[in-house]
Formats: sequence, C-alpha cells, structure tokens
Amino acid sequence: MQSIKKLKNIEGKIALVRVDFNVPIKNDKVEDDFRIKKAIPTIKFLQNKGAKIVLISHLGKGLSASGTSGESLLPVGIALNKFIKAKFVPNIFGKIACDAIFNMKNKDVILLENLRNDKGEQSLNKNFAKNLSKLADFYVNEAFSVSHRKDSSIVLLPKLLDSYAGLQLEEEVKNLSLVFKKPKKPFLFILGGAKFSTKMPLIQKYLKSADNVFIGGALANNFLKAKGFEIGKSLVSDSKGIEKILKNNSPLHKAMDGQGKLILPIDVVVSSKNKFINKKVSEIKKNETILDIGKESIKMIEPYIKKSKLILWNGPLGKYESGGDVATKKIIKILVLQSNTKTIIGGGDLVSVLSKLESKNYKLKPNLFVSTGGGATLDFLVNGTLPGIKALG
Ligand code: 3PG
Repeated sequence: MQSIKKLKNIEGKIALVRVDFNVPIKNDKVEDDFRIKKAIPTIKFLQNKGAKIVLISHLGKGLSASGTSGESLLPVGIALNKFIKAKFVPNIFGKIACDAIFNMKNKDVILLENLRNDKGEQSLNKNFAKNLSKLADFYVNEAFSVSHRKDSSIVLLPKLLDSYAGLQLEEEVKNLSLVFKKPKKPFLFILGGAKFSTKMPLIQKYLKSADNVFIGGALANNFLKAKGFEIGKSLVSDSKGIEKILKNNSPLHKAMDGQGKLILPIDVVVSSKNKFINKKVSEIKKNETILDIGKESIKMIEPYIKKSKLILWNGPLGKYESGGDVATKKIIKILVLQSNTKTIIGGGDLVSVLSKLESKNYKLKPNLFVSTGGGATLDFLVNGTLPGIKALG
C-alpha cells in the first residue's frame, strides 16, 4: 500500500478520491458527518500539493430492481461545504461531469453523484472502472469503510491508475492491526450488537488472542439462552456454533475470579409493562425483554478496563434505539474520558454516541481510535486485510 505522503509533483494533476460518504440522511440533511470529517485531512493534503480533487462515493444500497430509486449525494455535497469548498455534480459521466472536471482549477474539489446509481459499480464492471479511470491522473482510496466490498471503484479502478492509500485508510490499518501478532497484554475485547452468526468468527478469533472477551448487546441473549436462562421476548438470532464456544470457554460469572476468559453479563435491564427494571439474569420472566446489561455487569467490567493495556470494542451493549443505552454511554465515558488505555472502537452506533459527546465539548483522549467502518472493521478484524486494501498492493 503506497501512502499519498509519497506523492510528488502532483500540481495540476487530477486525483480521483474514493471516499465513503454513505452517511445517515434524514429529511435531506446529513445526520452524522463523522465519515465526511475523517476524509478532510486527505482532501486538504492533496489541495496543499496543488492537485484537483474529484471525490467519488456511494450512498445507500443502489438502484432498485426497476432501476429508478438511487439516492442522491446532494445533501452530502451540502454537508461537505461545512468543512471545505466543494462543488456537487449531479452525474458521474457525460458532458456535465466532464465539463466540470475540465474546468477545475488547481485545489478545486468536486463531488460526483452516487456511484451506485450506475449498475456498473456493484457488478465488477471493467468498462465502468475504465470510464472512471479516464477522469483522472491517479487514484486514492480513502474509503476504508467500504473496502470490504468487491465494488468496481474499490477493486478494479486501483488496477487502472497509479493508486495510493489516503491518510485515514492508513490510520485504520495501523490502529486496527494493533490487535494482531503481539497485542499489548492484558487485552480486553468487548463485543456487543446483534447477529451472532456475523460475529461468531470474531468471538472465536479473539477468544484465542485476547485475555478477556466480554459479550453484551443482543449477542449476550444468545449466550444466556444457550446456558439455559429464560430470556423472555428478547431479540435473539441464530446461535449455530454457540455450544462449542461455551464448551471450550466456561464463562466467568464473578468479576476477576481469574477463571476463563469469556465474560457474560450477570444482570440486565429488562422492559416490562413500559418500566425498566434491573434484575439478575436468573430472574428474567417470559413476558420481559432485555434492553441493556445491568449495573452489576458494568461494575464487573470496570476492573478489567482498568487493568487492560489494550481494548477493542465493537457494537453497543444494549438495545440502543429502545432506551437501552445506559451501559454503552457509561462505558464510553470511562474509556474515553478517564482511561489512558489504548482503545480501538468499531464504527456504527458507537460512533454516534461519541459524536454526541464531542458535540457537548467533551475532549476525547488521544489514546482512542474510532474506526469509520461497520462491516469493513469486522472483516478486517477477522482477516487482517480487505479486498480494497489488497487492490492497492
Ligand atoms: C457501510 O456503511 O458499512 C459502507 O458504506 C458499506 O455499505 P454497504 O454495506 O451498503 O456496502
């Protein structure tokens, strides 16, 4: 992977920068600009060297079966202008896009329309990639969070132009790689969120390399159910393979008793008749729904956080959208405001909690790395690379 820091003599050259501006949009407004913010240093770096910058991104899942409902990046173009002067061009190819690129001056920035509005993006289409390559002199991948997709602009395009890694992509690889080979010990892995089958490879891998693995979120429901606890009406996904994990790793139920590395919640917050009640995992009733891990479980994790030298955290600890956000917020505050331990946080819901803290002027500690990726981060943590990163090699 060549870094953009290696680029020389690019004044007047056109950089095609693949970003991931797939951000939440509501009523035509960007709700969370974290990913946009993280691409700005790369854009400014290229501007300072006098390049012309053409940004390309996807948004949403792409065209509908009838081919009509692709989303527009226009709201993103507007949000981008909070950070940097940029022009939005409502096409990818054609006269309007070509004229806009042709008329660029050095340091200008334009954002082309949603790549997924062309079916070539998601169908490994050589012609689509070739047409994109004709727009520019070199290519930059600043889209770690979509680099797990074998999309044309991610895996084909870098083979057609001189290709470089953006600054955030480099940071992602550098920081996430800290958990491989010889991670600092004790190493604590906190895993929340849902979908056991997606997270199983992570659980298996980090039960081998981490000193402790704490499971929260809906994933914990799978484990509690497999251990024979009543989980009421709580969200639970397919648990195939869980027995083997439990057989090889007897879960810890008391803080710091030093046996085993798999740690499960000892209490939970359930919702019952519109009330939130903290109770032991052995007391859950059939009509109750688990929303969050409980107070005792939070207390139980704290000493692990304190003694760890490296922490990796992916996925919220509770059902965030239904009010199960207390534990996640509390642990985030401990990690990012009090602790000096190197902490790597995976994207998604955790990013929005952090953005809210930042917007309240909390100063996040420099020991914290927040990944821009969702699925990409998970894949990287399992495989140590991604198709989009390999394509830069
Ligand atoms: C993401 O939001 O995780 C990336 O932008 C990838 O999006 P996708 O899951 O629609 O490919």
